[in-house]
Formats: sequence, structure tokens, C-alpha cells
Amino acid sequence: MQQVKPSASVVVSQTARLLKAQGKDIIDLGIGEPDFNTPAHIIEAAHRAALAGQTRYTPMAGTAALKQAISDKFQRENNLSYLPDQVFVSNGAKQIIFSAMLATLNPGDEVLLCAPYFGCYRDTVLSVGGVPVTLPCHEEDNFRLTPATLKSAITEKTRWLLLNLPSNPAGAVYNKQQLRDLGEVLQKHQNVLVLSDEIYEHILFDDQKFLSTASALPMLANRILTVNGVSKAYAMTGWRIGYCAGPQALIDVMIKVQAQVSSAPCSVAQAAAVAALSGPQDSVNEFRIAFERRRDFVVDEVAQIDGLTLKKPGGAFYAYIGCSDLLGKKTPAGSIINTDTDLSAYLLEQAGVATVPGSAYDMSPYIRLSTANSDAILENGLERIARATEALVSA
Ligand SMILES: Cc1ncc(COP(=O)(O)O)c(C=O)c1O
Repeated sequence: MQQVKPSASVVVSQTARLLKAQGKDIIDLGIGEPDFNTPAHIIEAAHRAALAGQTRYTPMAGTAALKQAISDKFQRENNLSYLPDQVFVSNGAKQIIFSAMLATLNPGDEVLLCAPYFGCYRDTVLSVGGVPVTLPCHEEDNFRLTPATLKSAITEKTRWLLLNLPSNPAGAVYNKQQLRDLGEVLQKHQNVLVLSDEIYEHILFDDQKFLSTASALPMLANRILTVNGVSKAYAMTGWRIGYCAGPQALIDVMIKVQAQVSSAPCSVAQAAAVAALSGPQDSVNEFRIAFERRRDFVVDEVAQIDGLTLKKPGGAFYAYIGCSDLLGKKTPAGSIINTDTDLSAYLLEQAGVATVPGSAYDMSPYIRLSTANSDAILENGLERIARATEALVSA
């Protein structure tokens, strides 16, 4: 556990909160959660469930109603046929990833991570004695994993490839052919399982249609774990419901893990998730439209700031901003910006804007900011970043 670091975005947000409590004027662009409220019909369903007595332990892998709603969702939206028994519900996608790793990794087993990646992947793998292996996915490839990189990284010890589409933090997306090309490599390596984290599925821009990894690669269906959740799509981060579906044997061992760690997730939150997945979907589209508008705004604003670069993210609600041109510059206080961590610290001190350094996502030099903030906050934050970066001088 000594190798596991606290989540960088959580640390940034805690620092921002602390500074705010001290009376400082801070704009937090660090945290990755929708700024919208959970739609009312979902909250009402939870209320009704609690009043109707759904307040007890539920079956370990989730209620029958929720597993059915998830199975229907996979069929309807992703063209994936999973039986309710192949579905597993947990306290957020995070716990699903943890259970999958704990259930399958022996000490020294390798897990391939597509950098830049959600830092929790690395720390989960480390927590259970696995070895995270970084696969750099470069900006010139739109932060996508290439078949050549995948091929060169697979060893006898490789147990998992973790994919995330659209990705946090870079918004990387894959089309059918790109997934098929990766699938071709994977077909030659029967020992490799694939975890496809699709939690940002609905936050996809420019009229793209989402394609689930398991739907693009039916020949690998018996080794793909499709992970999703209600946190991002329905503004339900606090309800802690994530879900997945995959091969029965894998789901069964994950249930064993959950039985010892937490039992099933909250009964009332599960009822809310049924309403989210089965009820009206208007808010999902409203959120997506707002995120796309903000993405466009941030892309336009960053283009005006000298020293920062940003490739248009295809999905999710982050901007992964390149800052290599600012490295080596001197701050008004006389210190040198050597790394993206230095830049992020400088922006917090000088401009009162919280961002997360790219080092947290294993690809530098970048800073990540969350576009899950109101238009006014984003405008103010970017204006401050522009002023603070203008104040940097050549060393
Ligand atoms: C890629 C990715 N997967 C999973 C999660 C966690 O989701 P949940 O709230 O369902 O645990 C996040 C949250 O930031 C994320 O960015």
C-alpha cells in the first residue's frame, strides 16, 4: 500500500476547499463530476422505494429489478446480450474495477494501462499486488492506443488490458476499425482479459455514435468485462452505483469479493438506478449538449492562450491541455516551472485556479481541467489562467 498515492484530483479539490475555507477566492477546475443535480424523477423513485420498505440487504450482485434494467440497457443501447446473471452491481465503477483486479490478479501479474489514464487504475492494480504497465498513447494519435504499442507490451504475465472510452482525461474515442485492429492483436493472446470502462459513454460529441468494445469485438466476448455506471450520465456520483457485465465465471468470483468487502450496494440507490436506466432519458441529452458547448468554449479560449495547446476532446468532460512551451519559464516570485506539477501549483497560488497535473495521469507535461462547471466559472477560470501564464517570463 506504500506505493499507492492518494488520488491527485481529490487532493487538488481538498486543497481548493481548504483554501476557500480560509477565505481565498478559488475556482476548482479539478474535480471530475457533473455539476448538475440528479433528475427529480430518479430522486422520487428512491424516495418511493424507501417508503415502500426497500431498506434491507439486497441480493449480493444487485436487485433483480436493477440487473434486468441493466441487461435491457446493454441490449437497447449497446447491442449486447447479457443475461441478468452476468450482470453485477457495486458501489460505483471504482469498486467494480477493484473487485475484478482482486479476483483475478496474482502477485506480479501485469495490467496494461493506456496513458494518460484515470489514476485509480494504477493504484487499484498496485493495491492488489499487480504490476501496472504504462502504454503511452500520444497526442498525435488522438491519445488512442495503437495496435503496435499493444503488441509490444503484451508478455506472458499480462492479465488485463484496461480501456476507457471516451477517456478520462484526454477524451479519446475509438471507431469500429480502431477497436477491431486492437482486437486482432488480442486474438493472438488468449491470456489477456479486457476491461472496457464506458462510464463516459453518453458524454460523446460531434454526433458520434458510441460503440461498446464488446459490441465491436464479439469474438472476444468471453474475455471482455464491460464496466459502466450512473455517476456521470445521470449526475449521480454520490449515489454510488456502478455496474458491469461479462463472462459468468468472472462475475461469480467478483460476487465473492463483494460479499466480503461490502455486500450489495445501497438498496435505495439501486432503486434510483432502475429509474435512471429505465425512465425518461431527456436529461442525459441535455447534459451532453451542455458539456459539448463547454468543450467548444474551452477549446476556443485555450487557443488564445500562448504556451497552452489543446486537441479537441471527442468525449468526457475534461480538457487535457499541453503545456510544454511553459516549462523552463520563471514566475513573478522567481521560481522556475520545471514540471506540470509546478505549473498546477503556480496556477493555484497565483491565479486561484485548481487544475490537476498530467503527472497524475502518467503523461506529462499536461494539466487537466474539468469542463463540468458552469459557463461563468469556466470563463472566469480560463481568464485567470491566461493572466497567470502571461506573467511567466523566460528564465
Ligand atoms: C474513467 C473513470 N472510471 C470510473 C470512475 C468512477 O466512477 P464511479 O463514480 O462509478 O465509481 C471515474 C470517475 O472519475 C472515471 O473517470
